[in-house]
Formats: sequence, structure tokens, C-alpha cells
Amino acid sequence: MCTVLITGATGNVGSRVAADLVAAGVRPRLFVRDATRLMHRWQGGSVEVALGDFDDEESVEAAMRGIDRIFLTSADGPDKVAHECAVIAAAKRAGVGRIVKLSAMHARTGSPLPAFDWHGRIEAVLADSGMPHVLLRPAFFLDNLLMVAPGVAATGHLAAPTGGARAAMVDVRDVAASAASAVLANQVLRDSYDLTGPESVTFAQVADAIATATKQTIVFDDLTPEEAAPRFAGAGLPSWLGTQLSGAFGVMRDGGFDAVSDGVRELTGRRARAVSSWARVHAAAFVSEPAPAPPQPSVRLG
Ligand SMILES: NC(=O)c1ccc[n+]([C@@H]2O[C@H](COP(=O)([O-])OP(=O)(O)OC[C@H]3O[C@@H](n4cnc5c(N)ncnc54)[C@H](OP(=O)(O)O)[C@@H]3O)[C@@H](O)[C@H]2O)c1
Repeated sequence: MCTVLITGATGNVGSRVAADLVAAGVRPRLFVRDATRLMHRWQGGSVEVALGDFDDEESVEAAMRGIDRIFLTSADGPDKVAHECAVIAAAKRAGVGRIVKLSAMHARTGSPLPAFDWHGRIEAVLADSGMPHVLLRPAFFLDNLLMVAPGVAATGHLAAPTGGARAAMVDVRDVAASAASAVLANQVLRDSYDLTGPESVTFAQVADAIATATKQTIVFDDLTPEEAAPRFAGAGLPSWLGTQLSGAFGVMRDGGFDAVSDGVRELTGRRARAVSSWARVHAAAFVSEPAPAPPQPSVRLG
């Protein structure tokens, strides 16, 4: 049984990779900044904790001891390249046998989309390192829609600048399952896998799937890029994230997420989950809390 280090283990993807490995009978080592964030989830010694921070070289080095394989992910942001390159350098020194890196479809050094540029630069460092590695390149996450779920719940409208384009959006559960399989696989894998959903769908179809799952009416408003721009700018997001999101919808409008790949099936042995499955699991996020019942007048008997 190999020893696995999971970075980003409190994040959307990393936490699910950890869960999938535990379910497969592996006791992964989780690299985390704050162990209390794991307490509610992992009990009974099912995981090992390596406390550390990507900015603390010694902690990264210590986390590598005895590790055969790594799942590499980090938060998006200006420090991403430095953070992941610190892990790659320490892994090389420790002689780690495989790095499975969560990248992104359209990753490319010099991309005007910040996250695609960061991933492209990290991919290049990984290639130069000569270490065995597997790149996972997911399309647009269905789970991005959870960011706007409260607004959808409140208004019954889902809005995005898609130009009616189709996209083979992927469920984060499938990204994690693919990563867990890539980490554990005994056979030699390809250098890179595109990860998508099983079908290419419009946002109007996604809105319909959420409407079916929530038994509510949800209208999709396809915005023009000009209508959407002030929404991205006014959402209180870091400027790189506004650029990334509006750029990602531009890629979508150009058909850049339309192609369906077989990466999830190749890695996990089963079909990627459909939008309807994702909508059922997340239905509650798109439903408004019922208003609290008004206080009842107290009745005195006798
Ligand atoms: N959204 C999409 O459509 C899409 C599509 C393709 C690819 N991707 C890629 O998917 C990845 C996102 O994964 P995700 O959603 O799992 O990310 P996430 O939820 O933001 O998780 C980030 C993780 O990194 C950890 N972290 C941050 N700074 C750290 C530090 N200094 N030291 C140690 N750990 C640190 C966080 O720990 P704390 O809990 O301590 O903060 C957290 O566990 C990104 O690389 C993104 O580019 C996204």
C-alpha cells in the first residue's frame, strides 16, 4: 500500500479526495494549516495529519517523509505558483514517485485568465522537474453555481453570460474520484486527462435540472458580456477572480468547454455524473429558508 500526501485537504476537491482514499482503505496524510478544521470529519485515526503551510518550507519538507504519491492542489490566487512549486521541489528532493496535479482545461503560460496562466506555469515546472506526474484538467465545475445559489433561491433567476453555448461541466465529486484513482493506480497513466461531465449542456438545461430537483421555477437569463461585466466587478471579488470568471464565460461562449472527454471513465471505470445528479445533491442550496413562523399569542387557560 502506498503512502499518500494530500494537499489542499480542507478544500472542495482535496477533502473529497481524502474521503475517497479512506473509503478505499488508505490512510492518507493530510497537509493542513489548521487541524481543527478536520476534527468534525476524520475520527478514529483514519487519516494522518501533517500540520504546515506552503509558505513554511520546513513544514513542506517534513510532510514529504516516506511519501510515495502526492495529490497537489492549492487555493487560486497570486501565491499559487510559489505554493505548488514549493511542494514540487520538496517532492523531488524526497524522491516521491508520482504527483497528481489538479490543473485546469486551457491551462497555458501567458493565458489572460489568471488561473489558467498559473496552472500553465506550474505544469511547466512539473515537466522540467522530470518527476512522474499526471495532470488533471477539469472543465468548468458545476459546483461554481453554488456561489450564486442564494441569489437563485431568492429570485428564481439564474443569470450568466453564456451566449447559449454548451459546456460539458463537471461535478467536483468526479474530479475528486478521478484524482483518487490516479493517485492509487498501479498502471502507468497518461501525462494528462481532461475531465468533463458526460454531456455538453446549456445553462438553460442546468436551470431546468435545478428546477426539477427543487420543484421550483427557475428562469435562466442569458446576459450579454456587457450586462455581466458590472456584476462581476461589483460582486466584491478580488480583481483576478473577476477577470477569471468573466474570462471563463468568454471561453465558454467560444465553445471552449463544449467537448466531452472520457477522462473520468478512463480513470474511475465509470461514467461521469450527469447534471441531474449534481442538481439533486445540491437542491437544498437553491431553496430559500422558509420564513420563521410568526409568534403565536399565548393563551391562558382558566
Ligand atoms: N472552479 C472551476 O471551474 C475549476 C475548473 C478547473 C480547475 N479548477 C481548479 O481547481 C482548484 C480548486 O480546488 P478547490 O476548489 O479544492 O480549492 P479550495 O476549496 O479553494 O481549497 C484550497 C485549499 O488550499 C489550502 N491552502 C490555501 N493556502 C494554503 C497554504 N498557505 N498552506 C497550506 N494550504 C493552503 C486551503 O486550506 P485552508 O482551509 O487552510 O484555507 C484549502 O484546503 C484550483 O486550482 C482551480 O484552478 C477549478
